[in-house]
Amino acid sequence: MNLLTVVGARPQFVKAATLSRAIARHNGSRPGAAIVEKIVHTGQHYDANLSEVFFQELEIPAPAFHLGIGSGSHGAQTGRMLEAIEAVIEDDKPDAVLVYGDTNSTLAAALAAAKLHVPVAHVEAGLRSFNRRMPEEINRVMADHVSTWLFCPTRLAVENLRKEGVIAGVENVGDVMYDGMLHYRSMANEAVLATLEITRKAYVLATVHRAENTDDPQRLAGVMETLGQAALKLGRVVLALHPRTRARLIEHSIDVPAGVHVINPAPYLEMIALLANARAVLTDSGGVQKEAFFLEVPCLTLRDETEWVETRDCDANRLVGSEPLRARPALDALANGDWKPDFSARPYGSGKAAEAIVDTLLKGHA
Ligand code: UD1
Repeated sequence: MNLLTVVGARPQFVKAATLSRAIARHNGSRPGAAIVEKIVHTGQHYDANLSEVFFQELEIPAPAFHLGIGSGSHGAQTGRMLEAIEAVIEDDKPDAVLVYGDTNSTLAAALAAAKLHVPVAHVEAGLRSFNRRMPEEINRVMADHVSTWLFCPTRLAVENLRKEGVIAGVENVGDVMYDGMLHYRSMANEAVLATLEITRKAYVLATVHRAENTDDPQRLAGVMETLGQAALKLGRVVLALHPRTRARLIEHSIDVPAGVHVINPAPYLEMIALLANARAVLTDSGGVQKEAFFLEVPCLTLRDETEWVETRDCDANRLVGSEPLRARPALDALANGDWKPDFSARPYGSGKAAEAIVDTLLKGHA
């Protein structure tokens, strides 16, 4: 089977690494390659610390095609990708196109493939925030509705699709990010703690990049104030800053509060060390919410809703939005030791999601 995998943004590199490893394992046990995977990098993320470093560190096969699309408005960025991916599909004639998650790269690849009648495999299908103002929500709904294989990470994702009338090709395989965490946990680069002069469970890790927070100056100022409160109540805050957020802080003259230490986006193995040793995590990222859960670290999500409701249901994750007042009770509970999440639930599968995906793809192709 010739599989064209399209990636473009940081969270997709992590997931692609796990699936590529499962494909290599599968091929390794048979004469000849059962799946020949070629990677297309759209170039949505182009900064070395959002892209290149992941390919090196996670040993992702080098992209066969690099489209170099870069930044732009949603229409411009997605449109340029659509055209470029269409050309690759026409040339390469894959048996299927595989996409991850909910970024503009996901939407462009799914649409390009579906219109050329090439089956689409969507990993992380069925997630919903029910907030159509998020570009990611539009992307995931559209991608799901043109996909042939819908690989869901949870039971709820299957249910979300059923409510939209999408039933054929839907499978709950578990979450490839959980597979990834089981693999990478022991490889975490703990040296980063000494470099940043922080100690275990004495700091808070923060990430902020979601458009709804960065592109609204009032929300961004609120989020920064929340981080300042966290620093006051819990100790130093390490903020791994996405370039988009850095640019908006400068544009809107919003200061980083005292006690908040800004670092560049961390390479993945450093990120795992920073997450695992944190006292708590403040984030608006989807992936980081789950990684905090896997590593049993309480998470405050700087959004009004989450797609990963299972983490909220066991009180491992509290939604605090962008207003400091709303975050206060959770920060106080942490400071007083009154927040006791239940990390015993296992809603994200058994760590074999990637294997299940490979099996289904091969069955479908046979
Ligand atoms: C994208 C995804 C988001 C995902 C996130 C992970 C969409 C709609 N959003 O958001 O779902 O959680 O990636 O990081 O696809 N920029 C750089 N360097 C880069 C890439 C981006 O400076 O390498 C800056 C540019 O100013 C750009 C802005 O970030 O305009 C936004 O980038 P974009 O790719 O549109 O979305 P992300 O915010 O990264």
